[in-house]
Amino acid sequence: MIVDIINKKRLGQELSYKELDTFFNGYLEGRVKDYQMSSLLMAICINGMTEEEVFSLTKIFIDSGDRLDLSFIDDVVVDKHSTGGVGDKTTLIIAPIVASLGIPILKMSGRGLGYTGGTIDKLESIPGYRIDLSDEEVMKQVQNIDIVITGQTASLAPMDKQIYALRDVTGTVSSVPLIAVSIMSKKIAGGADKILIDVKVGNGALLQTIEEAEELSQLMKKIGAIYQKEVQTMISDMNTPLGYCIGNSLEVMEAIRILKGEEMGNNLTKLCIDLSTELVCMAKGVLPSDAQDMVMESLRSGAAYQKFVELVKAQHGDLSKISVSRKTKIMKANTTGTIQEISAIKLGELSVSLGAGRTAKEDSIDYGVGIELLKQVGDKVKKGEGIAKIYYSKPVRLQNFNDIFLIK
Ligand code: URA
Repeated sequence: MIVDIINKKRLGQELSYKELDTFFNGYLEGRVKDYQMSSLLMAICINGMTEEEVFSLTKIFIDSGDRLDLSFIDDVVVDKHSTGGVGDKTTLIIAPIVASLGIPILKMSGRGLGYTGGTIDKLESIPGYRIDLSDEEVMKQVQNIDIVITGQTASLAPMDKQIYALRDVTGTVSSVPLIAVSIMSKKIAGGADKILIDVKVGNGALLQTIEEAEELSQLMKKIGAIYQKEVQTMISDMNTPLGYCIGNSLEVMEAIRILKGEEMGNNLTKLCIDLSTELVCMAKGVLPSDAQDMVMESLRSGAAYQKFVELVKAQHGDLSKISVSRKTKIMKANTTGTIQEISAIKLGELSVSLGAGRTAKEDSIDYGVGIELLKQVGDKVKKGEGIAKIYYSKPVRLQNFNDIFLIK
């Protein structure tokens, strides 16, 4: 009985492959209801999973769909993934850099999860951009231009698509085993040879401690080993938002400025350079210093930006039509001093309340809203000076937002 499986997990007991299979495939086939799945997910969040359960569930997720066979591509195909953060538009920057260096990158991205944004939502802010390529289109495009960023194709880990949307709205996102299963099932099904995962830690991330980030990294490497995939991880900070912009169109526009080499010094650019360097090392087996030189040259020469333009064109997007809301308000400093902290989680929550993310599965996104930071941590400000610009479409009450910035 379905309820017995929920009870077993509630009591902290290990579920067998057969029990997990019955439950999860029952959900996909409509026999297990949303409320029963939500209950099991919450029990997993609270009681965790054994490694054996994680390996079983990953297999169930992978087997729920097809696996792409990229063996017809001679080069090493790479993939990257982030566990998600606020203002995290790294994929939009890293994928074109790497592809501009002749390294095929096939990225199937997801939607926002909780207060963390999703690459697919960001790309959909480019009018016309197709995020629903078929397996055949994905394979053709990666062969032709070395780069694809699309949504999970319908046939790839469909189980994850369903569960991901449910986790987003049931408070069940921050679970190390569920994150490991979700990410690795997609990565294995996606067919890349080598996978780099950016594991984020901090108040704006799904994980709050380094210990959890290390546990997740180890677990994902173990899953990769079962499927003969090289998995590397990089743990990075998510207490402060990445870059200056949060919100879908705003983030695409910021990524373009970085790809053009216009914003080289901030935390976002530095992280993108580090992650791209690691991917180049993995794919080409070169020294980190040589890989970094190649990455910097791609940004300096405009090759990374050209590759992004090529990607958007191939997927029918029109960059000239991207837009942000015309209604804006400036948020002002409530005291004089130096900015000590900018809370990623509070900015993430604010962006969701503006309409840049979802609070229910069926919610639609307002692509033009968001927040542009006018100052960064370490900047001095005077009382009344503008510290952030809010792009909104429905009324906002700015006096609630003073606790986002710690100024002393
Ligand atoms: N990214 C994913 O793909 N899945 C998760 O569960 C969390 C981040």
